[in-house]
Amino acid sequence: MKRPPKVLALFDTRTPIPPEQDLSAELQTVDWQTEANVLVALGELRVAAEHLVLFDDLEVLNQKLTQFAPDVIFNLADQFRNNRALDQNIVSFLELHGLPFTGCGSTGLTLCKHKAISKKILSYHRIHVPGFTVVARGRRATRPRRLKFPILVKPLKEEASYGISQASFVETDEQFQERVQFLHEKHEQDVIAEEYIAGRELYVSVLGNQRLQVFPIRELVFREVPPEEPKIATYRAKWDEEYRKRWGLQNQFAESLEPGVARKIITTCKRIYRLLTIDGYARIDLRLTPANEVYFIEANPNPILAAEEDFAQSALRAGLSYAQLIDRIMRLGLKATRT
Ligand SMILES: Nc1ncnc2c1ncn2[C@@H]1O[C@H](COP(=O)(O)OP(=O)(O)O)[C@@H](O)[C@H]1O
Ligand SMILES: [Mg+2]
Repeated sequence: MKRPPKVLALFDTRTPIPPEQDLSAELQTVDWQTEANVLVALGELRVAAEHLVLFDDLEVLNQKLTQFAPDVIFNLADQFRNNRALDQNIVSFLELHGLPFTGCGSTGLTLCKHKAISKKILSYHRIHVPGFTVVARGRRATRPRRLKFPILVKPLKEEASYGISQASFVETDEQFQERVQFLHEKHEQDVIAEEYIAGRELYVSVLGNQRLQVFPIRELVFREVPPEEPKIATYRAKWDEEYRKRWGLQNQFAESLEPGVARKIITTCKRIYRLLTIDGYARIDLRLTPANEVYFIEANPNPILAAEEDFAQSALRAGLSYAQLIDRIMRLGLKATRT
């Protein structure tokens, strides 16, 4: 009989942790929820699982790869030396080693992380994207005339809504310049400024390498936000429970989408996934306008995998238990052909 696969779960950390340190305390915290959930799931599957925490020491990773000789890396490391832009480099390192890993390869991660390049590719293929401009650090923040207010000013390469607050929504050139400067200086980030697309906020979870499965669509609803106010998944809107309660923010399954619209969303998301060379699993964030136009906002390869988050919830609704989902992701990682 074939032996069960050896799986190395690879985690990141914001502060260095000695490789031999016991993680039980960390795994109890919200910050480590995904890691904890995945370890439990791997425990339920017929695999030999070990884990390693990566801060910036590739030597430790090399040693582990030699000693344990995993068949596949379950990749949950999306920052290196506190830098979230380096997730693609971690994966590139695994690609250099010729090691199978879960989730998205380096090209997909690179294209999706750059919020301007991904939009250029998609707009070439006639997928609706918001009008945008990039203002690199050291550049003057002047708004091109073609870009119409209201505008949302965001870091060019971030995630989890870092740097996005209500003040990101700007309606005058003065506010525009102020916010761009703030992101340049305080967040040390280049900036993308996008036309604000009013509409429903939809999250579409996709699983697969070649053959793609799209799970039931989720929506962030802004129940208590007055109709004329901007509706934005800001940092607080995502992570501050009290704030979410106050404004009636809730992640739920998208209700009453017309069947034709739902089909259009599914086809569009599969095209986006392929055009951005994503593999493994991803969550695609969209806006659906009152006229039922589908606008691309962002693609998130390797989205948060915690059991209670949108991706796993969507998979569950499609009939995949959490352990089954982790199993599918692991097997897709084993089979991926990237380089
Ligand atoms: N062009 C836009 N129009 C309307 N809302 C937007 C736009 N861009 C971003 N948003 C809002 O801001 C949120 C975060 O933006 P996003 O680009 O996904 O950043 P992050 O990568 O940090 O999640 C989105 O989920 C959406 O609510
Ligand atoms: Mg997002």
